Amino acid sequence: MSDIKRILLCPPKFYNIRYEINPWMHIENQVFQNKAEAIYQELKSLYQKLGAQIFEIEPQPDLPDLVYTANCGEVCGDVFIKANFKFPERRRETIVTEEYFTKNFNFKPFSLPDNIFFEGQGDLLHTSKNYFLGWGKRTMPEAKNYLQQVLNKPIIDLELVDSYYYHLDTCFAPLSDTAVVINPSSFTEKGLAVIHDCFPEVIEPTAADHMVLACNLVKINNHIVIAKGISDHLRAQFEQKNLIIHEIDTAEFRKGGGSIKCLSFEF
Ligand code: ARG
Repeated sequence: MSDIKRILLCPPKFYNIRYEINPWMHIENQVFQNKAEAIYQELKSLYQKLGAQIFEIEPQPDLPDLVYTANCGEVCGDVFIKANFKFPERRRETIVTEEYFTKNFNFKPFSLPDNIFFEGQGDLLHTSKNYFLGWGKRTMPEAKNYLQQVLNKPIIDLELVDSYYYHLDTCFAPLSDTAVVINPSSFTEKGLAVIHDCFPEVIEPTAADHMVLACNLVKINNHIVIAKGISDHLRAQFEQKNLIIHEIDTAEFRKGGGSIKCLSFEF
């Protein structure tokens, strides 16, 4: 059976590198606007071809990172859980995304206290059984108790220890209830034990895969949308599972520290 996935995207009209809040971002490494726009269109049409329903939020001149819609929060039932960004540079995104979801979908907003950082689906991913919450770089561990008030599955928290993989979605991608793709060096010993406990199959891409943020993927039914440039090793693991791979060149969006999943809020 196939589920219809709704995805919120944001056109990269105002996307550029105006500040540096993760190790991938360098103001001198500017975005080629035309390339970013072309990749965005490619991603959008691929999603449509794969049967996803696409929504677009209006880009804002002073919010370059709004393109990374995954960070805007989480949706559960009719509740929109708002993000609380760690960095002031991104905080005003919350106003725009809250308005978008309450106006267009009638979702009820849920806020964490202002001092408890939570960066949405960047740090919150799930299987059919559990939510997984990444903390330590952006989201704070204290977010867990607040989120548990509105989420309908147990939350398993995982500490993130590598600044290059500062959001859970840069180093962890559940493919099903039994298989996950991870970057092991992003987690503590304890975290790795928890991951192996939850997933009988733990797929480890190569170091080169992590350079293109391979874990930052979106799965739609048996399709994987992932950065161009993944290794044959990783490709073989997906193919063994009969997953069909679609590669998109996300180099322009890696300048901001993101790839496929960061650009895609799934709800
Ligand atoms: N420049 C953005 C930041 O540092 C990138 C966000 C990437 N998003 C993600 N879901 N990992 O916040």
